[in-house]
Amino acid sequence: MDFSYSNIPMNELNNFLQAVEAFLLKNDWSPTRFGRELAGDPQFVFDLREGREPRSETRERISEAMKNFATDRTLPPLRVGIAGLGTVGAALVDMLDRGADDLLRKHGRKIEVVSVCARSRSRDRGTDINAYKWFDDPVALAASDDIDLFVELIGGEDGPALAAVRAALDAGRPVVTANKALLAKHGVDLSRRAEQSGAYIGFEAAVAGGIPVIKTLREGLGAATVSRVYGIMNGTCNYILTRMGKEDISFADCLKDAQALGYAEADPAFDVEGFDTAHKLAILCSLCFRTEIAVDEIFVEGITAITQADISVARDLGYKIKLLGIAQRSSDGIEQRVHPTFVPEESAIARVDDVLNAVALETDHIQELLLAGPGAGGLATAASVLADILDIARGHNVPPLGVPTSELLPYSRAPMRTHEGGYYIRLNVRDVPGALAAITSRLGENGISLESVIQRPDLQNEEVMPAIADTRTLVLITHETLESSVRTALEKVADDGFTTGAPQVIRIETF
Ligand SMILES: NC(=O)c1ccc[n+]([C@@H]2O[C@H](COP(=O)([O-])OP(=O)(O)OC[C@H]3O[C@@H](n4cnc5c(N)ncnc54)[C@H](OP(=O)(O)O)[C@@H]3O)[C@@H](O)[C@H]2O)c1
Repeated sequence: MDFSYSNIPMNELNNFLQAVEAFLLKNDWSPTRFGRELAGDPQFVFDLREGREPRSETRERISEAMKNFATDRTLPPLRVGIAGLGTVGAALVDMLDRGADDLLRKHGRKIEVVSVCARSRSRDRGTDINAYKWFDDPVALAASDDIDLFVELIGGEDGPALAAVRAALDAGRPVVTANKALLAKHGVDLSRRAEQSGAYIGFEAAVAGGIPVIKTLREGLGAATVSRVYGIMNGTCNYILTRMGKEDISFADCLKDAQALGYAEADPAFDVEGFDTAHKLAILCSLCFRTEIAVDEIFVEGITAITQADISVARDLGYKIKLLGIAQRSSDGIEQRVHPTFVPEESAIARVDDVLNAVALETDHIQELLLAGPGAGGLATAASVLADILDIARGHNVPPLGVPTSELLPYSRAPMRTHEGGYYIRLNVRDVPGALAAITSRLGENGISLESVIQRPDLQNEEVMPAIADTRTLVLITHETLESSVRTALEKVADDGFTTGAPQVIRIETF
């Protein structure tokens, strides 16, 4: 573009380069932003640093623009293109529409939606979209030179969302997305593309909706080393478990209510089987431990097998059951697991009820930081998307995963069998002499010591747990033990024939 190979005296070129570098430093601008906003070419600073010489009129124009910027700090509007106008997209358009003047006053830059895209142009979105340029194809919108920033709110780990985000990044255009599935699968590749083109990816809304956990991890914790991250990251599951804990209703009935209230999808499997939590955990784990994202390495167990019997025993023992995503270092590597968990009812995480989410960070500097709030919903999620947009408007640019992708460590999985913790084990035991002794001795043989043995005949009524003929409910609470020991012992117990059906095993955490 505006470069020539004419011989500019070296000191002039150096002075110009130094002026540009000083400008970047002073205004905390990325080279790409400088290129885009003041030079008209995102690559301008990179080319300049490599020794390419801009024409004298280009230098003059840019020097003038730097001078004017110093006296008049009004920035040109940030032109935004939004693909996806569903729950989050429509809320964002509305928020930007209503709050435009306020944002300009507070942040010194106008945020202007210029183009939008969805499947249906005629659908009522509850907000007027006629003023915006319409695109049928999200990739064409992402690649359009009319926008400075692409917002992806379509969803899905591949397909149009992936194609559009790639197109924007490859054009050096920053991206904001709320799409955890996309990031869990392609986060490292997308971050690499962003680095290569000097663009930025904001994904605050992808984990725990309205809770600013990504920014806290990436920037707020400074040099602190995270030893464990855990949290409630799915509002549907938390709603169901909270209702089951407060009222004597079954998982299936709670799920129906959650669907009627719009908290659960028509196909709830992704939420209640734990996969949604796993996607979010994979992203957090990478940010906490500076490893590659490894969603396929996560041990995942959902909440569909939780019964009123489990909830009732947990309550009697001073626990609540929560679906947690947990990532922590161990001597065998990094544990990433999603499963229903007994948590002490007085712990902070146990008090996060209903559809709320919470993420706890344990670091060497801060013993525990708990961030709690709305994990989903159009407004809360759009607010996080907007926070990323404002960062970009200010020229913020940090590596999406906290460190350059070349510095990410390979993920080293600690096998689930090496997990150590307490266990709740519920068995249906045949009502025959010697059964209890046989079971406890099998556990003892595998080095498992018991904190309590509870017989609860009262649990066997139709409302709580359908009775199985000639069996009694036995609950065992173990002291800290190895997962592999529990599995081996329970296989032996099953072989002995004193129990019927599969045992219920729930891990206990004592935060
Ligand atoms: N909803 C939440 O509370 C929440 C919370 C956190 C994160 N997120 C994430 O935010 C993203 C959006 O979620 P959402 O709940 O807003 O989804 P949604 O209500 O289903 O909206 C999806 C939007 O994408 C559009 N779309 C689908 N396929 C398209 C295509 N091929 N080309 C163009 N547009 C297409 C749809 O168009 P039509 O409207 O014309 O069908 C719709 O407007 C997802 O990644 C989700 O995981 C959502």
